[in-house]
Amino acid sequence: MPPSVPDYPRTAIVTGAARGIGAEVARRLAADGLAVAVVDLDETACTAVVDEIKSAGGCAVAVGADVADEAAVEKAVKRVANELGDPTVLVNNAGIIRDNLLFKMTLSDWDSVMNVHLRGSFLLARTVQRYMTQAGWGRIVNLSSVSALGNRGQANYAAAKSGLQGFTKTLALELGRFGVTVNAVAPGFIETEMTAETAARIGISFDDFKEAATKEIPVGRTGVPADIAHAVSFFASEDAGFVSGQVLYVAGGPKG
Ligand code: NAI
Repeated sequence: MPPSVPDYPRTAIVTGAARGIGAEVARRLAADGLAVAVVDLDETACTAVVDEIKSAGGCAVAVGADVADEAAVEKAVKRVANELGDPTVLVNNAGIIRDNLLFKMTLSDWDSVMNVHLRGSFLLARTVQRYMTQAGWGRIVNLSSVSALGNRGQANYAAAKSGLQGFTKTLALELGRFGVTVNAVAPGFIETEMTAETAARIGISFDDFKEAATKEIPVGRTGVPADIAHAVSFFASEDAGFVSGQVLYVAGGPKG
């Protein structure tokens, strides 16, 4: 049996949760019994996910914030603490891609990817750790990617997703003594608007893009957001308290 945890209401913050993987993680954590803050750039874009959670009997609130904006993050986290209770689960999921080969990559392509993934995860983690260390319990899950291992046209994204792995391991070392675990999920190809937009950008249909990807995936299919939500749910669970600093590749085959 793991040591008993304090009787403390669990509130989760999921960033980039208006759609895709983040939306599914929010729905899953709500189904697991957590109150969930659905955070994304535009608050109104979060309301559909919040309504779904509420009509399934869960508890959620929509919060608009740019994760790369320090003041907006502080304000959003305070609002979550007031409306749902102190946040002790954080899923750093917000992400963007600005793909280009190195010689064509602009400084803005580089900076915007670093800002959302790295600066955003840092700002959220730094703000939310206060509540976790006070509670003596917390779970942080960062969204990395198989691209951390290197991917043509993604020097910025690969550097950010690899950076998140170092960030994860370092926070695990620093926060473990406070009952806080920090892990990363590194998805392979997941069917979302992000991968659909990549298909559109390279000029092929999403079905053809998925079919090409499937040929490289041992389990013979592309992933869906629920595959990632399941892994996040494990890391966020009460009983996963002895698992920290890990990177779990969820990619339908061996990676990492
Ligand atoms: P998506 O593009 O469908 O959704 C990303 C969400 O993040 C959007 O709702 C967007 O508005 C939000 N967002 C972007 N910038 C933000 C900011 N500054 N502040 C707040 N919210 C912001 O992406 P998807 O596919 O759901 O990806 C989620 C995470 O998983 C990302 O970190 C992505 O890099 C990662 N990932 C996705 C993979 C895939 O195949 N779809 C594979 C590996 C990793």
